[in-house]
Amino acid sequence: MTESVVLGSIAEVRRMLDAHRCAGRSIGFVPTMGALHAGHQSLMRASVAANDITIVSIFVNPLQFAAGEDLGSYPRDLARDTDCCADARVDLLFAPSAEEMYPGPMATVVDVPPFAAPLEGASRPEHFAGVVTVVAKLFSIMGECRAYFGEKDWQQVAVVTRMAADLSMPVEVVPCPTMREPDGLAMSSRNIYLTSDERAEAPVLRRALDAGLAVIAKGETDPAMVEAVMADTVATASLATLDYVAAVQAETLVADGPLHGEVRLLVAVRFGKARLIDNDGGMVPGKPA
Ligand code: PAJ
Repeated sequence: MTESVVLGSIAEVRRMLDAHRCAGRSIGFVPTMGALHAGHQSLMRASVAANDITIVSIFVNPLQFAAGEDLGSYPRDLARDTDCCADARVDLLFAPSAEEMYPGPMATVVDVPPFAAPLEGASRPEHFAGVVTVVAKLFSIMGECRAYFGEKDWQQVAVVTRMAADLSMPVEVVPCPTMREPDGLAMSSRNIYLTSDERAEAPVLRRALDAGLAVIAKGETDPAMVEAVMADTVATASLATLDYVAAVQAETLVADGPLHGEVRLLVAVRFGKARLIDNDGGMVPGKPA
């Protein structure tokens, strides 16, 4: 297994990536907060397959955690993460300190589009401003590249794609499918917070999505009815507290009347210390939108 080269400074990353681009090599970039798992590795593998050089960043970004969230307890293990990257044949690993990324208070932040407001944005009001600000910094550090994001964070993909387009960044955002455990639970760094009883109930998120998609396939187009079916499914798990369920248009992340065309179902549930999210997409049967 070839080791990935670990870099801590922004200047070093720029120098190395510029040299690769000068030599005509394409760059793939996978931004992460570490605690890497097979979901992250699927992004790395997609990048390695499509690019000459793959760089992964590991940075637990304080700006995207609100007070009282899990910034302090977020799992950190750089040695394990380095092995995980090497295993996926990643070339470079950027693991900056907080001081390297934020040497002083930020006076400039990136604002978020309106579709960042509902869902995760409503439950975590400061979250997306923190995400787009750090992703804008990371894109500026990486330069021209393809950047790989997981559809597990569907709204994050939408927000980041729009930001890169609005700010004319030389970055192509590539969405990648959600990796799941055999029982349907989406892989997540936060799954380690689950007790064994909570872990046993956690596939209820997948079941809620399946239940919603099943009624849509049978012709239900009322978002409230689809959401009720999803919420009823979550309610069958005794340890789950529902944060939100949503049945929306895939493109805009809002429902504009009866569901039509490509739709996205999203769910967020608390199990004790863990807050889990998941989503899946489907088509409303019948006439095209
Ligand atoms: P993090 O939660 O570490 O996720 C890094 C990337 O891995 C994200 O694009 C996420 O959608 C993807 N991912 C997570 N679980 C996945 C799964 N089960 N299958 C496929 N992909 C999965 O998302 C963040 O970090 C941060 O917000 C970040 C973009 C790095 C900015 O700080």
